[in-house]
Amino acid sequence: MATPHIAAEKGDFARTVLMPGDPLRARFIAENFLGEARLVNNVRGIQGYTGKYCGKEISVMASGMGMPSISIYAYELYNFFDVENIIRVGTAGGMNKNVHIRDIVLAQGACTDSGFASQFGVGGTFCPIADFGLLKGAFDIAQQMKLKAHVGNIYSTDVFYNDDKNTTEKWSRLGVLAVEMEAAALYMTASRFGKKALAICTVSDHLITGESTSAEERQTTFTDMMKLALELGIRN
Ligand code: HPA
Repeated sequence: MATPHIAAEKGDFARTVLMPGDPLRARFIAENFLGEARLVNNVRGIQGYTGKYCGKEISVMASGMGMPSISIYAYELYNFFDVENIIRVGTAGGMNKNVHIRDIVLAQGACTDSGFASQFGVGGTFCPIADFGLLKGAFDIAQQMKLKAHVGNIYSTDVFYNDDKNTTEKWSRLGVLAVEMEAAALYMTASRFGKKALAICTVSDHLITGESTSAEERQTTFTDMMKLALELGIRN
């Protein structure tokens, strides 16, 4: 049963899908953390795998970059493959002085400059929020793992190279912790179809302090975040 962007059978995906942006990250997770991993999708190189973690079935599939891309995969996974939970595992740029590189940000809410919500025609501003159970679960696991995790608002933007250099400062003034490019559309898609979503981000660079991580640090931080997300995934 193929959809326009996923060539898999019903039942090929577990109820929880972890979503990194990068297809190579999806393969890395499958090869290094999952037992009995099998490739279930590779349309456009968007690698998706299903395997086992601690004996429980879980899937991982890339989202690609940006809200149009993640919303296509989330729509099809939720509506055609019986997926209940999508946990984004990505990177974000820090926008707050209390948030440092390598910290984890659990996105309680996702502000956006995207027009994605206009399709719902609500005549107001919809606030995209995480599923509370996933959010609380992730926070509890992060504490047990002694990882530094912040909970708060993030900013999902359509524009990586913004011509307006003041946007960071303006969102930061409102207490927004970090910027990435996917969570808001993921949260809206989950809400629309009565499903669950959470974005977990590691801070890879900092837009205010200019700090950035080395490739090795990024890998260690990424591994911590993956263990957190996998543990969360198999509990849900
Ligand atoms: N902007 C948008 N997305 C990002 C960034 C950024 O600076 N860093 C990591 N993801």
